[in-house]
Amino acid sequence: MGEGELPLELPLTGGSRFVRACLRRAVDRPPVWFLRQAGRYMAEYREVRKHHSLVEICKRPELAAEVTITAAEKLEVDAAIIFADLLLPLEPMGLDFEFVAGDGPVVHHPLRTVEDIDRLRTDRAGALEYVAAAIEKVAGHFGDRMGMIGFCGAPYTLASYMIEGGGSRNYIFTKQMMYGETSAWQRLLDKLVVVLTAYCRQQVDAGADVIQIFDSWAGSLGVADYREYVLPVTKRLVRAVQEMGVPVIYFGVDTASLLPAMRETGADVIGLDWRVELDAAWRGLDYACAVQGNLDPITLFAPEPVLEARVKGILAAADGRAGHIFNLGHGIVPGTPVENVQAVVRMVKAMGPQFAARRAQAGTEAAHG
Ligand code: CP3
Repeated sequence: MGEGELPLELPLTGGSRFVRACLRRAVDRPPVWFLRQAGRYMAEYREVRKHHSLVEICKRPELAAEVTITAAEKLEVDAAIIFADLLLPLEPMGLDFEFVAGDGPVVHHPLRTVEDIDRLRTDRAGALEYVAAAIEKVAGHFGDRMGMIGFCGAPYTLASYMIEGGGSRNYIFTKQMMYGETSAWQRLLDKLVVVLTAYCRQQVDAGADVIQIFDSWAGSLGVADYREYVLPVTKRLVRAVQEMGVPVIYFGVDTASLLPAMRETGADVIGLDWRVELDAAWRGLDYACAVQGNLDPITLFAPEPVLEARVKGILAAADGRAGHIFNLGHGIVPGTPVENVQAVVRMVKAMGPQFAARRAQAGTEAAHG
């Protein structure tokens, strides 16, 4: 028995539904959670932010756990993603950063020379244990009721922040390093893999069921550059995490042309942004992995009938196949009405089982026909 195996032992918990879907095992309906489900759109988060900075919340396990738990419970999703940030590993590597209101992250002394890269440290990942401590609290709170997602940035996306010093439009410094100082570039990505592997191990040991690797800005690369400069090292990180015994979700934005190459990382699940059609993208991946996505986060501002049609469209595109995790195509933005996010959860729970049951039925008929 493999894909679509029956009978399914019901009822599934949020945690088992989520992990089973990552592994493309049969589920009663697609699990659902949201990128940036804890964030400024939610009043409870804004209240905590009145008293604490973003980094402070990340570094205090009781606060990070509270923010994570509040969002997951309020939305009644199947999985909780630990509240943290992509950039946290920069600090123990020797790069200070801060979040500047309105500007996003700012790295104070971005990497511009080979010497800057050679100075980066890889022996202080232990300083990130506060994230694992928060995971332990959340996992202890939910048990199997909720999947527990740990995460880290992918080598390319983190390298781009380290070199550009913040967000970027054209990634000029990053690509200059990549093309012009290729061996230093490789050393940088190697150092990142050392730190990220240790960081993910802490999270898995603390109770993360799944690790999501965010390659948010991979879409800035053409396929040939992605394959030459990024894929091999990313594949190593994916494999190292899988060897810890958990599935890996690999996500990027604006990745339509990169998807087959991203699949070659061996990730269990590929995160799709909202610009692609889920059915065509999954077919293009030969259904060889699970997929996560891919509602446009801005449809959360649409009237309910439009929202419902979009949710149904995604469920229909996935067609009840084992290995679909319902999510957005990128993070929830500030100003999103919370009740619309909750409505999506209700819709997936209401409509999802019909699609799953139809496919199970078709599978049974094929087996007997
Ligand atoms: O609920 C969750 O999704 C968990 C929390 C989470 C945060 N950052 C908290 C956060 C996660 C998973 C991240 C990952 C992250 N951080 C990514 C990858 C995801 C993606 O969007 O592609 C990236 C690129 C970052 C870097 C980052 N952090 C940026 C660019 C910004 C500024 C953007 C903004 O909205 O201002 C942040 C800040 C940040 N990280 C916020 C949150 C909730 C919002 C700012 C705040 O509370 O002050």
